[in-house]
Amino acid sequence: MQAGQGSGWRGRAMVLGLCAVLAGCGEEEGAPLQAVDLQALPADAALAQLYIHSCQQCHADPAAGAPLVGDSVAWSPRLDKGLDTLLEHSINGFQGMPPMGLCMQCSEAEFRGLIAFMASPAKPAEED
Ligand code: HEC
Repeated sequence: MQAGQGSGWRGRAMVLGLCAVLAGCGEEEGAPLQAVDLQALPADAALAQLYIHSCQQCHADPAAGAPLVGDSVAWSPRLDKGLDTLLEHSINGFQGMPPMGLCMQCSEAEFRGLIAFMASPAKPAEED
Protein backbone atom coordinates (compact mmCIF):
# COMPACT_ATOMS: atom_id res chain seq x y z
CA MET A 1 0.00 0.00 0.00
CA GLN A 2 1.35 3.35 -1.01
CA ALA A 3 -1.35 5.44 0.62
CA GLY A 4 -0.06 8.38 2.60
CA GLN A 5 3.31 8.68 0.89
CA GLY A 6 2.22 11.54 -1.29
CA SER A 7 0.96 13.61 1.57
CA GLY A 8 4.09 12.82 3.56
CA TRP A 9 6.24 14.29 0.80
CA ARG A 10 4.02 17.34 0.67
CA GLY A 11 4.34 17.70 4.43
CA ARG A 12 8.10 17.73 4.26
CA ALA A 13 8.06 20.25 1.46
CA MET A 14 5.87 22.47 3.61
CA VAL A 15 8.34 22.32 6.47
CA LEU A 16 11.24 23.14 4.18
CA GLY A 17 9.27 26.03 2.74
CA LEU A 18 8.55 27.36 6.21
CA CYS A 19 12.21 27.18 7.08
CA ALA A 20 13.03 29.32 4.08
CA VAL A 21 10.40 31.87 5.09
CA LEU A 22 11.31 32.03 8.76
CA ALA A 23 15.03 32.02 7.98
CA GLY A 24 17.59 30.61 10.31
CA CYS A 25 15.99 27.19 10.74
CA GLY A 26 18.72 25.11 12.31
CA GLU A 27 21.30 27.76 11.47
CA GLU A 28 22.75 30.40 13.71
CA GLU A 29 21.75 34.00 13.20
CA GLY A 30 24.15 36.61 11.95
CA ALA A 31 27.70 36.14 10.73
CA PRO A 32 28.71 32.52 11.10
CA LEU A 33 31.40 32.46 13.75
CA GLN A 34 34.18 30.12 12.87
CA ALA A 35 35.53 27.95 15.61
CA VAL A 36 38.50 30.06 16.55
CA ASP A 37 40.92 29.72 19.44
CA LEU A 38 41.08 33.15 21.03
CA GLN A 39 43.95 31.99 23.23
CA ALA A 40 46.13 31.08 20.27
CA LEU A 41 49.64 32.52 20.30
CA PRO A 42 52.35 32.82 17.67
CA ALA A 43 54.80 29.92 17.85
CA ASP A 44 57.70 32.38 18.01
CA ALA A 45 58.17 33.49 21.65
CA ALA A 46 59.24 37.06 20.86
CA LEU A 47 56.34 37.52 18.47
CA ALA A 48 54.00 36.04 21.06
CA GLN A 49 55.09 38.69 23.58
CA LEU A 50 54.40 41.51 21.15
CA TYR A 51 51.07 39.95 20.27
CA ILE A 52 50.01 39.55 23.90
CA HIS A 53 50.88 43.15 24.75
CA SER A 54 49.14 44.72 21.78
CA CYS A 55 47.16 42.94 19.07
CA GLN A 56 45.54 40.33 21.32
CA GLN A 57 43.57 42.91 23.34
CA CYS A 58 41.44 43.65 20.32
CA HIS A 59 42.03 40.82 17.89
CA ALA A 60 40.96 38.18 20.43
CA ASP A 61 37.98 40.16 21.71
CA PRO A 62 34.79 39.60 19.70
CA ALA A 63 33.45 42.92 21.06
CA ALA A 64 36.34 44.96 19.64
CA GLY A 65 35.16 44.75 16.05
CA ALA A 66 38.55 43.59 14.88
CA PRO A 67 39.00 40.53 12.67
CA LEU A 68 39.64 37.78 15.21
CA VAL A 69 42.80 35.75 15.43
CA GLY A 70 42.49 32.60 13.33
CA ASP A 71 39.17 33.71 11.84
CA SER A 72 40.19 33.16 8.25
CA VAL A 73 36.67 34.01 7.08
CA ALA A 74 36.98 37.51 8.56
CA TRP A 75 40.51 37.88 7.29
CA SER A 76 40.07 36.67 3.73
CA PRO A 77 38.52 39.90 2.33
CA ARG A 78 41.28 41.83 4.07
CA LEU A 79 44.01 39.59 2.68
CA ASP A 80 42.54 40.28 -0.74
CA LYS A 81 43.76 43.86 -0.33
CA GLY A 82 47.30 42.53 -0.26
CA LEU A 83 49.74 42.13 2.60
CA ASP A 84 51.41 45.46 1.77
CA THR A 85 48.10 47.31 2.30
CA LEU A 86 47.48 45.47 5.56
CA LEU A 87 50.99 46.35 6.68
CA GLU A 88 50.40 49.98 5.75
CA HIS A 89 47.09 49.96 7.67
CA SER A 90 48.78 48.38 10.67
CA ILE A 91 51.42 51.10 10.78
CA ASN A 92 49.22 54.09 9.98
CA GLY A 93 45.95 52.87 11.44
CA PHE A 94 42.75 51.98 9.65
CA GLN A 95 39.30 52.93 11.00
CA GLY A 96 39.02 51.19 14.42
CA MET A 97 42.57 49.88 14.07
CA PRO A 98 44.95 52.25 15.94
CA PRO A 99 48.29 53.23 14.36
CA MET A 100 50.97 50.56 15.04
CA GLY A 101 48.24 48.45 16.66
CA LEU A 102 49.54 50.06 19.86
CA CYS A 103 52.85 48.22 19.38
CA MET A 104 55.22 51.15 19.04
CA GLN A 105 58.31 48.95 19.17
CA CYS A 106 57.11 46.53 16.50
CA SER A 107 59.25 46.37 13.38
CA GLU A 108 57.89 45.96 9.87
CA ALA A 109 58.98 42.32 9.85
CA GLU A 110 57.22 41.76 13.14
CA PHE A 111 54.02 43.33 11.82
CA ARG A 112 54.16 40.97 8.86
CA GLY A 113 54.62 38.04 11.21
CA LEU A 114 51.75 39.17 13.44
CA ILE A 115 49.40 39.68 10.52
CA ALA A 116 50.32 36.32 9.00
CA PHE A 117 49.72 34.67 12.36
CA MET A 118 46.33 36.29 12.96
CA ALA A 119 45.11 35.74 9.42
CA SER A 120 45.96 32.07 9.18
CA PRO A 121 43.11 29.70 9.95
CA ALA A 122 42.95 28.35 13.48
CA LYS A 123 44.31 24.84 13.67
CA PRO A 124 42.62 22.67 16.28
CA ALA A 125 45.68 20.45 16.49
CA GLU A 126 48.88 19.72 14.64
CA GLU A 127 47.99 17.83 11.52
CA ASP A 128 50.36 16.16 9.14
C1 HEC B 1 42.77 48.93 20.17
C2 HEC B 1 42.35 47.75 19.43
C3 HEC B 1 43.33 47.14 18.43
C4 HEC B 1 44.64 46.75 18.64
C5 HEC B 1 45.48 46.88 19.91
C6 HEC B 1 45.09 46.16 17.40
N1 HEC B 1 44.08 46.19 16.46
FE1 HEC B 1 44.23 45.63 14.53
N2 HEC B 1 42.31 46.18 14.21
C7 HEC B 1 41.45 46.68 15.17
C8 HEC B 1 40.15 46.90 14.58
C9 HEC B 1 38.92 47.43 15.31
C10 HEC B 1 40.26 46.52 13.23
C11 HEC B 1 39.16 46.57 12.17
C12 HEC B 1 39.24 47.90 11.46
C13 HEC B 1 38.10 48.03 10.47
O1 HEC B 1 38.11 47.30 9.46
O2 HEC B 1 37.23 48.87 10.68
C14 HEC B 1 41.62 46.09 13.03
C15 HEC B 1 42.12 45.65 11.82
C16 HEC B 1 43.42 45.22 11.62
C17 HEC B 1 43.96 44.80 10.36
C18 HEC B 1 43.21 44.78 9.03
C19 HEC B 1 43.35 46.13 8.36
C20 HEC B 1 42.64 46.16 7.03
O3 HEC B 1 43.12 46.88 6.13
O4 HEC B 1 41.62 45.49 6.85
C21 HEC B 1 45.25 44.42 10.57
C22 HEC B 1 46.24 43.91 9.54
C23 HEC B 1 45.51 44.59 11.97
N3 HEC B 1 44.39 45.09 12.58
C24 HEC B 1 46.71 44.27 12.57
C25 HEC B 1 46.99 44.48 13.91
C26 HEC B 1 48.24 44.12 14.54
C27 HEC B 1 49.40 43.47 13.82
C28 HEC B 1 48.15 44.48 15.84
C29 HEC B 1 49.19 44.35 16.94
C30 HEC B 1 50.50 44.89 16.66
C31 HEC B 1 46.81 45.08 16.04
N4 HEC B 1 46.14 45.03 14.84
C32 HEC B 1 46.36 45.62 17.22
C33 HEC B 1 41.77 46.95 16.48
C34 HEC B 1 43.00 46.77 17.06
